Amino acid sequence: MNTKNEILLSQFIKNRDELHQPDPQAFAAILKAVEEASGKVHSVISRAGLVDVLGAAGSENIQGEQVQKLDLYANEQFIESLGACNHIAAVLSEENDEIITLNDSGEYLFATDPLDGSSNIDVNISVGTIFSVFKRKRKGPVEKEEFHRHGYEQAIAGYVLYGTSTVLIYTCGKGVHAFTLEPSSGEFVLTNESIKTPQNGNIFSVNEGNYYTIEKGIQDYIEHCKKLNEKGKRTHTARFMGSLVADFHRNLLKGGIFIYPATADAPEGRLRLLYECNPIAMIAEQAGGLATLGKKRLLDIKAKEIHERSPFFTGSKVMMNKALSYLD
Ligand code: F6P
Ligand code: MN
Repeated sequence: MNTKNEILLSQFIKNRDELHQPDPQAFAAILKAVEEASGKVHSVISRAGLVDVLGAAGSENIQGEQVQKLDLYANEQFIESLGACNHIAAVLSEENDEIITLNDSGEYLFATDPLDGSSNIDVNISVGTIFSVFKRKRKGPVEKEEFHRHGYEQAIAGYVLYGTSTVLIYTCGKGVHAFTLEPSSGEFVLTNESIKTPQNGNIFSVNEGNYYTIEKGIQDYIEHCKKLNEKGKRTHTARFMGSLVADFHRNLLKGGIFIYPATADAPEGRLRLLYECNPIAMIAEQAGGLATLGKKRLLDIKAKEIHERSPFFTGSKVMMNKALSYLD
């Protein structure tokens, strides 16, 4: 098959300086590091089963979850590439209890879930990397409290979805842009500039195994999604893969809503504010969607802890407003 006239991520960043203000050089270097690390993760994922990356590493992370071998591999690649880019002072990763300090003179902080949905890797289902970048407010050695920021302060937010193809999506506050990895060259190629999510949709993504442990308003919204129309046909469709990046990406392109509320097992919510909800929320808003932790805008929350969790609702405006109308 012919390939199209290709614009590489590196060229796009260089040619679209206005998107990357106030610091085009640093943004280019940070995104280059993401490109490099995720390319390596892609190579290993695409050969999982052939190389020894499947299964648990035999330890638990700070959240009490089984760490997978691939979690550790992805974490190492990101820390190494970000260390070499010089602009990152410290990394907050789901895989490390404490922040990793890299370069005291770096002007940015990087928060990441290096391998989201990692339990899916053993069964050949899509996984992702999620990342968020803040500009530092001071110089010198980094204290972890520097990560206690509002979501709206993010300078860059993005994710990589290792799916049927590998795509990198990012925003730096001026639209959402998507690039697809060309595996033969290891380069990400522009495939969707200025993504806009549909204002409405019919997909609802929620783990219904939690149904009896979630608040009544959300139960009622789920019932609303299951209602038939006057012809006896379904009005919505349910999709939940268990990989946030994959569930969000599908809904971003097709229109839908993703909900991970507070549950009996996860009374604060399950997803992590700084490296799961924040970056996805910034992308959702930049694409014309909404993201909340209930009625309140998620990006208005200021983190109090580095591994803090949050309830999370995100999706198309019409569906989100309908869902929020069921909440107290
Ligand atoms: O990182 C947390 C995560 O794996 C998300 O990718 C996903 O949306 C969620 O957990 C699934 O959680 P559960 O298995 O409780 O539905
Ligand atoms: Mn995750």
